[in-house]
Amino acid sequence: MKDLMEKIISLAKRRGFIFSDSEIYGGFSAAYDFGPLGTALKNNIKEEWRKSTVSQNSSVLEIDTPVIIHPRVWEASGHLNHFSDKLVECKQCHRRFKEEEIKNGRCPLCGGELTTPRAFHLMMKSFVGPVEDEQSVVYLRPETCQSIFLNFKNIVQSMRRSLPLGIAQIGKAFRNEINPKNFIFRTREFEQMEMEWFCREDEAEKWFEYWKTQRKQWYLDLGIKPENIRLSETPKEKLAHYAKKAVDIEYHFPFGWQEIEGIHYRGEYDLKNHMEHSHHDLAYRDPVTQSKFIPHVVEVSAGVERTLLAFLTDAYDEIGGGRGEASRQKEEVMVHLSPKLAPFQVAVFPLLKKEAKIVKQAQDIFQKLIGSFRVSYDASGSIGRRYRRHDEIGTPLAITIDFQTLEDQTVTCRDRETMKQIRVKISELPEIISKLVN
Ligand code: GAP
Repeated sequence: MKDLMEKIISLAKRRGFIFSDSEIYGGFSAAYDFGPLGTALKNNIKEEWRKSTVSQNSSVLEIDTPVIIHPRVWEASGHLNHFSDKLVECKQCHRRFKEEEIKNGRCPLCGGELTTPRAFHLMMKSFVGPVEDEQSVVYLRPETCQSIFLNFKNIVQSMRRSLPLGIAQIGKAFRNEINPKNFIFRTREFEQMEMEWFCREDEAEKWFEYWKTQRKQWYLDLGIKPENIRLSETPKEKLAHYAKKAVDIEYHFPFGWQEIEGIHYRGEYDLKNHMEHSHHDLAYRDPVTQSKFIPHVVEVSAGVERTLLAFLTDAYDEIGGGRGEASRQKEEVMVHLSPKLAPFQVAVFPLLKKEAKIVKQAQDIFQKLIGSFRVSYDASGSIGRRYRRHDEIGTPLAITIDFQTLEDQTVTCRDRETMKQIRVKISELPEIISKLVN
């Protein structure tokens, strides 16, 4: 299973999904660069999240706020006092771990004796302005949602909204993790896709169930195998300081079942605390009954990189040894990404790159499709090699333009999943691709 993780890391690098950051300087711990395909995959994940959570739900609005905000926010949110992990250090090898990672009281790497646990604060600190003193301390946000609470009233008023109301944000978050690990699974800088659902207290339980189901379904709809995803309720003693109740969506990674998204019932915790600390009234007035109250909040919070790692792991496959196409000699990588997520939805291949008429036709088709789909134009190597290359990056459809195309305006259309090739008219391509994508 560990082997699978190494294969995924190797594929990610080989095919331009993910590189180690600052590689020429030896790499920078837990920092990764997303290459062209990784960036495309990330963008597609965010777009699908946006579609399902915001665009297709008229009660949800999206905002975009800074990473560095008023430091008092973190006092009110409870992060300044509570956002820490218990850290232990091995007296022998000096590696540090979260206390919760320790199983038998000894160092998991060398078996050495451990120090007693001490609190380690997770917020990243910086300074604004020219003087580095207590007055200029700021924090990089450890979660994107606090600005949503700060803007709740602004949005209700300016957008003339009533409950239930969702406010969403996608953006960077930072945590000074003690033990970042498992490739992009736990890093110090990552992106979150969060949505805070403001509702009445007596409806919160219903909405919690609703969002739990919706969010799990999102992963299934995008191709995650049902046996690899589960919901796991957080025991009371492990709840975050803001949560009354929480369920994690977990994915079965090669390194075990791990959280990819948290669904939290935050009650009135955040709005109430911001009211107390800012002395501003953030209560909601019901437009019909005129009653005034603090809404309760159900939160959905997914990490972009973790989700990406889950999609990539789930899609990774090796085929060969007699299966598949005749030209497939050995085990080859096949990435079964959903057409909604794949960096390219279709690849266009001119059969011969030196045959001017074929090239012209292929480029015409490419130009025609590029306005509506994510298309790759690939002219190098044999058609078989081009199929392999696109199988590795999850392109669901490949179109080959050959001599017959010049005569009858048809192309070969090859489906990644079935590996079947059919002859279709050029004019039918947009419909065929649309069907596949939608
Ligand atoms: N606002 C609630 C909140 O931040 P969380 O469970 O601490 O909740 C939500 O984080 C999600 O953010 C996690 O499920 C995970 O996907 C992602 N995440 C958290 N810490 C991360 C880290 N160090 N590296 C990558 N992703 C992380």
